[in-house]
Amino acid sequence: MSDEPSGPVSDDARVPRAVAIIMDGNGRWAEARALTVADGHRAGTKALRRVVEAAIDLGIETLVVYAFSTENWTRPTDEVEDLMELLSETIDGELPDLAKQGVRTRFLGRRDRIEPWLDEKMGALEAETEELDTLNLWIAFDYGGRAEIAHAARRLVEDGVDPAAVDEDTLSARLYAPEMGEIDLLIRTSGELRLSNFLLWEAAYAELVFTDTLWPDFDAADLGAAVQAYAARQRRFGARTRS
Ligand code: FPP
Repeated sequence: MSDEPSGPVSDDARVPRAVAIIMDGNGRWAEARALTVADGHRAGTKALRRVVEAAIDLGIETLVVYAFSTENWTRPTDEVEDLMELLSETIDGELPDLAKQGVRTRFLGRRDRIEPWLDEKMGALEAETEELDTLNLWIAFDYGGRAEIAHAARRLVEDGVDPAAVDEDTLSARLYAPEMGEIDLLIRTSGELRLSNFLLWEAAYAELVFTDTLWPDFDAADLGAAVQAYAARQRRFGARTRS
């Protein structure tokens, strides 16, 4: 099956094909309201739903969101458990509603450390939405960019690839999801100016947009503003465009 969505995807070059978001600031949002961190993450899931719907309206084809990093396992056990539970609730609650709007959901990252019951739910959602093509949603969960590149390197060795044949194409074909493609626009909320090990390979030439807005407050207008900033950029991919 082609990965090309047939939905309202835009062919306007000013609309990025693939957008990645580091959804940061749930904890600070909660703290400012004397709420728990879990409340902050729960508000983050509502923002995720809003933003997926806004991405459909803008004609974005692929959205990749950072929900749980390989480093997030070091957070307090309660918070890790809350995030696992929240993913489960999101699979039961928000994602089926998004599927009705044509959203195909897949997960990006390691699957061997996630509890079997959750892994099964993730797999079931992926299977249930595999024919949908209005928007490709990738949820990065137990994801790390370095781990992904190390995984690709391991697969090159396992596949017996001749060292002389190792290049960008043979390596990128062994990333977690080669069909996801390159990231055009990467957004990070909450004022932090870091990539935090997100999509190190795929975002090599992404345009970066940082906003002070905390993730639970991020909405369609914020996404629209980031896309407008992207549209105003001149992408050169390392080439010289002036003599
Ligand atoms: C960073 O904010 C956010 C996370 C580590 C988790 C992101 C998760 C969501 C937005 C919930 C939706 C995801 C699922 C499960 C589908 P932070 O907690 O580091 O914020 P802080 O820097 O203000 O403390």
